[in-house]
Amino acid sequence: MIDEIEKIKSEIESFTAREAAEIEHFRIRMLGRKGLITNLFKDFKNIPVEQKKQTGKLLNALKQLAQEKVESLKKEAVLHTAERTEEHKPDLTMPATFTDTGSRHPISVVRDRINNIFARLDYVISEGPEIEDDWHNFTALNFPENHPARDMQDTFFIEKAPDIALRTHTSSVQVRVMQSSKPPIRTISPGRVFRNEAVCARAHCIFHQVEGLYVDKNVSFADMKQTLYYFAREMFGPDTEIRLRPSFFPFTEPSAEMDVSCNICSRKGCPICKYSGWIEMLGCGMVDPNVLDNCGIDSKKYTGFAFGMGIERIVLNKYHINDLRLFFENDIRFLKQFEAIL
Ligand code: DAH
Repeated sequence: MIDEIEKIKSEIESFTAREAAEIEHFRIRMLGRKGLITNLFKDFKNIPVEQKKQTGKLLNALKQLAQEKVESLKKEAVLHTAERTEEHKPDLTMPATFTDTGSRHPISVVRDRINNIFARLDYVISEGPEIEDDWHNFTALNFPENHPARDMQDTFFIEKAPDIALRTHTSSVQVRVMQSSKPPIRTISPGRVFRNEAVCARAHCIFHQVEGLYVDKNVSFADMKQTLYYFAREMFGPDTEIRLRPSFFPFTEPSAEMDVSCNICSRKGCPICKYSGWIEMLGCGMVDPNVLDNCGIDSKKYTGFAFGMGIERIVLNKYHINDLRLFFENDIRFLKQFEAIL
């Protein structure tokens, strides 16, 4: 038995552990109900009487050694855990790490502002397909077959279906709205449009427009002018002036183009407005009676006005950007400059 005691003693002395589970395992192995030391105590009654005194002493000392070992290991483990918690405590003096916040695209920001301004005038938003048929994009809008007016807009036609094209303007949506609803109609239609143009700083094959349409009894040119004047002041500031120049579009009669006063130079002349004091903003006019009839609205009863504007042009002017391509490259350095605008 003395040999056995010696063996266990050296095991106890050399044992180390830092985890509570390991220490508990060790305690059970030594001192548990079937532990090594407990078993020795059970065997103690079988040893010869003359050995009892000495062996008993050794056995008691062994038990005490094991108990002390368990206690001291436990204390160390507690300290160790505390140290580790300390290590993982956040250091409140450390500088914060910055998370990148995204920014909204300037086109989306301006589109939403246009939507909001017209929402205040009770206009509702409508949308139409980007892949459009010839009728909605041209014919219904009074572009005669083989009329040179169609050449005004270089169109992406679908090769296998010559009747289908990518819409060249959002005016196609006003056709769809008039076909599917009855006056009074007050709607704006923001969306992407496509033209077969070589991409450069001043032109792009994809851009964004917002179309507006108002159809009711007795809608007049004066209504249109007042609506667009309100829009211009809301968009560019209360001192903004507008002017209408006669123009031509197949779907409106009479037609006009609207300029807004340059808010950089207050009409004194600057490079942004090319020293004219005015910036071209949109096309507009009274809906041609043919268009109303094409879309199932009685042109003898109803009149209306329509307008269409390019969102890019507004953004270019508002933020003094000189290259359209920047809008589509998604260069983070460009987009980050718009973080502050909402
Ligand atoms: N669709 C025209 C274009 O893309 C813009 C336009 C002009 C729309 C006059 C209209 C309008 O509704 O009345 O250039």
